[in-house]
Amino acid sequence: MTTIPQLPVPTWFVGCGNMGGAIVQGWRSAGIDLSNAVVIRPSGTPVEGVRTVSTIADAGASPKLIILAVKPQRLDEVADQLQPALTEKAVIVSLLAGVEADSLRHRFPNVASIVRAMPNIPVAIRRGVIGLFSKDADDSVRRQLAEAFAPLGFAPWLPDEVKLAAVGSVAGAGTAYVARFIDALRKAAEEWGLSTEIASVVALETVLGTAWLGATNRDSMDEIVRRVASPNGTTEAGLAVLDRDGVLDQLIAVTIEAAARRGAELAAEAEAATLAGASQLH
Ligand SMILES: NC(=O)c1ccc[n+]([C@@H]2O[C@H](COP(=O)([O-])OP(=O)(O)OC[C@H]3O[C@@H](n4cnc5c(N)ncnc54)[C@H](OP(=O)(O)O)[C@@H]3O)[C@@H](O)[C@H]2O)c1
Repeated sequence: MTTIPQLPVPTWFVGCGNMGGAIVQGWRSAGIDLSNAVVIRPSGTPVEGVRTVSTIADAGASPKLIILAVKPQRLDEVADQLQPALTEKAVIVSLLAGVEADSLRHRFPNVASIVRAMPNIPVAIRRGVIGLFSKDADDSVRRQLAEAFAPLGFAPWLPDEVKLAAVGSVAGAGTAYVARFIDALRKAAEEWGLSTEIASVVALETVLGTAWLGATNRDSMDEIVRRVASPNGTTEAGLAVLDRDGVLDQLIAVTIEAAARRGAELAAEAEAATLAGASQLH
């Protein structure tokens, strides 16, 4: 029997939009107790199953765990607001794309540990990917967070922030790219006469079934291709187009590269703000 992990009490979600909401949804469906958790978001829009407030002043006892789920551009404002509530026991898990551990540590100098997590939206249905990285979390924090994130999907600890950024670009942003691919299949199915309703399901189930085959049989993608494509058959005719000059590989590579470049820009912006803050202190 697997035991359901417990979150530190209290756990705060600072920001709970698309990503924070997906994590709440995943944890709720995994049966994780959120009765002592608090969501803080300016709109106060209720989040099902979690007490929701609109200001930090209303959140109550100081948090043991903070899931920081605001946009990177909000970091400085939120760090200032959070400061009075933070203790030396707090662990911050930042979901902020591109904002590196050193930039976070500069803004939260006194907390116990800072962890970066790069999740993707399918955590909501517990089929997500969550890359984890920390410079200062001890073994017990690592174990506790590994246990907390495991019910949401594949949650590896990564050795450096370059690899964390790779997870962000491939799995985080990749969810949107796969959605585009499914939609392209849907459009092609419509071009060939299927109704939108049927084409949508055919495209979705094709991708879902292929991924599921890989996940359950552990077949490589090449093996799956071999099982579908007979010599000189219809699939091969299509693959001859898709594989020509490595066009698809190149398209994906430049797509990921563009996301990674933007991640580096965000990191540089956060770093510049850190340096500006430091120079004001001198
Ligand atoms: N979306 C993804 O697929 C994804 C993947 C990986 C990482 N991330 C990271 O996750 C973070 C959140 O992204 P998102 O897509 O969830 O953004 P989002 O949907 O815009 O949510 C942002 C949240 O921040 C809240 N907020 C704004 N100002 C605040 C403040 N001063 N104090 C507390 N909360 C505040 C907003 O409150 P209201 O709801 O009241 O407006 C909202 O709940 C980003 O840093 C992003 O890099 C996202």
